[in-house]
Amino acid sequence: MNKIELEKIKEKALENHIPIIMDDTLEYIYNLYEDKKINSILEIGTAVGYSAICFTEILNKEGFIDTIERDEQRILEAKENIKKAEVEDKINIYSGDAVEILPGINKKYDMVFIDAAKGKYPFFLKEALRMLHDNGIILADNILYKGYVMSDYNKHKQRTAVRNLREYIKEVIQNPELETEILEVGDGLAISKKKIK
Ligand SMILES: C[S@@+](CC[C@H](N)C(=O)[O-])C[C@H]1O[C@@H](n2cnc3c(N)ncnc32)[C@H](O)[C@@H]1O
Repeated sequence: MNKIELEKIKEKALENHIPIIMDDTLEYIYNLYEDKKINSILEIGTAVGYSAICFTEILNKEGFIDTIERDEQRILEAKENIKKAEVEDKINIYSGDAVEILPGINKKYDMVFIDAAKGKYPFFLKEALRMLHDNGIILADNILYKGYVMSDYNKHKQRTAVRNLREYIKEVIQNPELETEILEVGDGLAISKKKIK
């Protein structure tokens, strides 16, 4: 990965108010995989490719990332950014709505990073579980959503998102196949590890 280009990509995204992974969340993920690189990552929500480019750091030599984005302008920018960062051989973008694309993917992943429409997190979880390797990890970003999820916040505009994020947390905590922690890094990160059978 070209680190100078990566800094430029990050700065431009922030200037343009494109929501990208926060530094402490990224740091946490780097630490998680410090000693064991992984082979396959599925990301839901590419934006301009910033997090996908960063995640190439935690891949092994043959590793790859599939990432899904529905916004055409962002897809174009992501493709340019991925090229500038010199990681085109590692990242594949699926263009379109993840709700339609996910059921058609039949691969297994070591890590699934959920970072798209908050109202769809329970659906993304169902799909992530179907495609997760034993020992795999599902990470859900923005899970605490500015503190709304753990408060009695009930404003109309965010109500559906908050309800679905709460539903996601309930499902991962109750799922006997998963061990879950909710971390206060970034805007909240749920980390669910699949237990070895
Ligand atoms: C928070 S941004 C992703 C940021 C990116 N992961 C990063 O950290 O650099 C969320 C992205 O998900 C996309 N998105 C939201 N819902 C989606 C869906 N149902 N299918 C595909 N993309 C979606 C949005 O267009 C947006 O670009």
